Amino acid sequence: MQYQQLLVEEKNDILFVTINREKALNALNYDTFTELEHVFGKQYAKRNDIIGVVITGAGEKAFVAGADIKELTEMDAEKGEELSQRGQDIFFLIERFHRPVVAAVNGFALGGGCELSMACQMRVAGEKARFGLPELNLGLIPGYGGTQRLIQYIGKAKAMEYLLTSDMINAADALQLGLVNYVVPAGEEVSKAVEIIEKTRNKGPLAIRKAIEAANAYFDSCMDGYIAESEAFGDLCMSRDFREGTSAFVEKRKAEFKGK
Ligand code: CAA
Repeated sequence: MQYQQLLVEEKNDILFVTINREKALNALNYDTFTELEHVFGKQYAKRNDIIGVVITGAGEKAFVAGADIKELTEMDAEKGEELSQRGQDIFFLIERFHRPVVAAVNGFALGGGCELSMACQMRVAGEKARFGLPELNLGLIPGYGGTQRLIQYIGKAKAMEYLLTSDMINAADALQLGLVNYVVPAGEEVSKAVEIIEKTRNKGPLAIRKAIEAANAYFDSCMDGYIAESEAFGDLCMSRDFREGTSAFVEKRKAEFKGK
């Protein structure tokens, strides 16, 4: 497959995946998901010579500003649930990848972008990084595992606060909350991610694979939560509030929700 939305390159046995839609703040559209699925589910799924993956976003402003809102406007319940499940499944490929996947978060990591970073096994944030789940502003909820993984990382009390207020989490707070592994000066996110991956270079590949499998198994009881999330996401796609929220974004105005 020729990647159009991603830059994918191998250097010194490390795979660098850059979401390359800078003008749309690297928002995840349908084709970007297809390409991510190909990278993690096919092209590199069995590549044992790759020692790790760094995922980042093109430009200085955003890691990924979320699902592509412009593609969300034509949703019904069935399509919404399918979209959410597809996103979850592709992020599971990343979470379960057989070598460490580190997000180098260079700016906004919002909605699906925050969810993408949380599916990575580790996160390095630049000082200007901002994390958040602003989906409620659109009359939606996170649909790519965000309601489940934010709780896993920072605990329910703070996760509920950020989920319900849509407040953004700055890099320093993300470090203190345990959402990110390191905060580094802007521009050094990728090199720090590489430094972490290099520390795993000489470990047994099978042991690395099994360590990742075992750590992920700890959270298996959350699976019902993912199903609940997809169903709720699909339901919301039928709501007027969702249409209002997405239209307001596209029209650059404040949304007026009616609770319907
Ligand atoms: N989808 C599509 N386009 C997006 C986008 C998104 N998520 N985020 C930003 N863009 C586009 C904007 O539309 C704009 O494009 P135009 O120049 O063509 O109008 C461009 O990127 C630059 O964005 P802004 O002008 O808005 O930049 P800003 O600096 O004023 O604001 C921002 C930056 C705060 C990140 C703002 O862009 C924003 O709030 N983006 C949306 C964030 C969001 O709500 N994410 C959640 C998406 S829903 C989701 O992810 C659902 C899910 O879990 C499945």
